[in-house]
Amino acid sequence: MTERIAVYPGSFDPLTNGHLDILARGRRLADRVIVAILDHDQKTPLFTVEERIHMIREIVGGDPSISVSSFTGLLVDFAMRSGATIIVRGLRAVSDYEYELQMALMNRRLAPAVETVFLMAKEEYSYVSSRLVKELARLGGDVTGLVPNIVRQRLADRF
Ligand code: PNS
Repeated sequence: MTERIAVYPGSFDPLTNGHLDILARGRRLADRVIVAILDHDQKTPLFTVEERIHMIREIVGGDPSISVSSFTGLLVDFAMRSGATIIVRGLRAVSDYEYELQMALMNRRLAPAVETVFLMAKEEYSYVSSRLVKELARLGGDVTGLVPNIVRQRLADRF
């Protein structure tokens, strides 16, 4: 039987518990999930791509069905190069929908064989975003429960 491979793309700057929850759900749909970190993004990240790769590997390293990579260029090209037929994206509020729909339709136009699936994280993570977590950490707030402990420590070191 052919292996079903999914790509879970994003900035992951940093990875949150919401991302981890989506990753676990995505893992149920595929034999292997590749966490794919966009490199050369326009935004100035808090953590370099290498730092993010290492952090995520430390967090998910125990699961041989999950790998972590970075990519440049089009996501669908990376997906096809990796043999992936599924793109996993998390949906929180309705406000995420418009951008996600545009991206999914554009990706489908570019690569009809790759299907985007939207997954909903646990309700308790519905308001958690990397942006808010960074702001909270920068202003001295407690991010416990919002991110894995490794990320909490790295945020504390950074601020
Ligand atoms: O977590 P993010 O920042 O919302 O992730 C966005 C991401 C990385 C999934 C998206 O920006 C992306 O796929 N970028 C690569 C370029 C691409 O393929 N864009 C979509 C079609 S034009």
